[in-house]
Amino acid sequence: MTRQFAVVGNPIEHSRSPELHHAFAKATGIDLNYSRRLAPLDGFAANIQEFFNQGGSGLNVTVPFKEQAYQLCDVLTPRAQVARAVNTLWQQNGQLHGDNTDGQGLVDALNALGWKLEQANILILGAGGATRGVMLPLAQAGASQIVVANRTLSRAQQLIDDVQPFITGTKLSAISLDQLSGQFDLIINATSASLSGELLLLPPELQFQQAYEMAYGKPSSFLEQAAQRGVPTSDGFSMLVGQAIEAFSIWNGIKPPLNDFLSLQH
Ligand code: ATR
Repeated sequence: MTRQFAVVGNPIEHSRSPELHHAFAKATGIDLNYSRRLAPLDGFAANIQEFFNQGGSGLNVTVPFKEQAYQLCDVLTPRAQVARAVNTLWQQNGQLHGDNTDGQGLVDALNALGWKLEQANILILGAGGATRGVMLPLAQAGASQIVVANRTLSRAQQLIDDVQPFITGTKLSAISLDQLSGQFDLIINATSASLSGELLLLPPELQFQQAYEMAYGKPSSFLEQAAQRGVPTSDGFSMLVGQAIEAFSIWNGIKPPLNDFLSLQH
């Protein structure tokens, strides 16, 4: 029987998830259908209930419902607990399970680039949901230090305080975005500045070896500045593919290789 999956959000028509999941299904021989669901802003809970009542196997959740999904779950993975947001849902024994695959998606994307995370010294720009979602998987991948830099310093400090109890073996700290300096192996832009076309200035006293932009499909001044320094760069399409593959593997028990799908970017 064809397994039913969907992504739910508002808006939803732009989502690339159906195309990605159908590509994974083709590559692995899994019989599935993956659709888009537009939930009313005040009707998320009813929408996902309807999906599972009709026999749906798994849902991805996108903007603006990831925090609501987290609240509705009966069972959460540790990485979803740290993220306080859920992008992957399924039902088991009548209970709603939730996970957050964004962080592992990023780790798999960085591995596919050949960028080493073991003992890495990482700087993340931004302290919103995007950063919260990747903290535990980056730490578990062996990062020796993660520094979170944010325009609003108190928000970065709060994020570190919240995630610290879940993380051992990785040094965590917060700095202000206007005090960027030091040497890092990897810098990750998790601010929404690129999406709104705003400029993030990377000062000369900040040194880094690799630069990853979580956004994709838009010009990024962050990546332009990094490229001018001659360091390897990547936009966030590989993370999009990575988080989708991780969700696919939770639901279907098989994990196709990320590199096989990077050519889907256009
Ligand atoms: P998301 O869930 O995508 O992380 P968010 O929670 O709204 O979205 O967080 C957006 C992040 O981008 C925040 O860290 C925000 O900084 P503040 O906490 O100071 O608001 C950051 N951000 C957005 N626009 C920015 C800009 N123009 N310059 C620097 N940081 C910016």
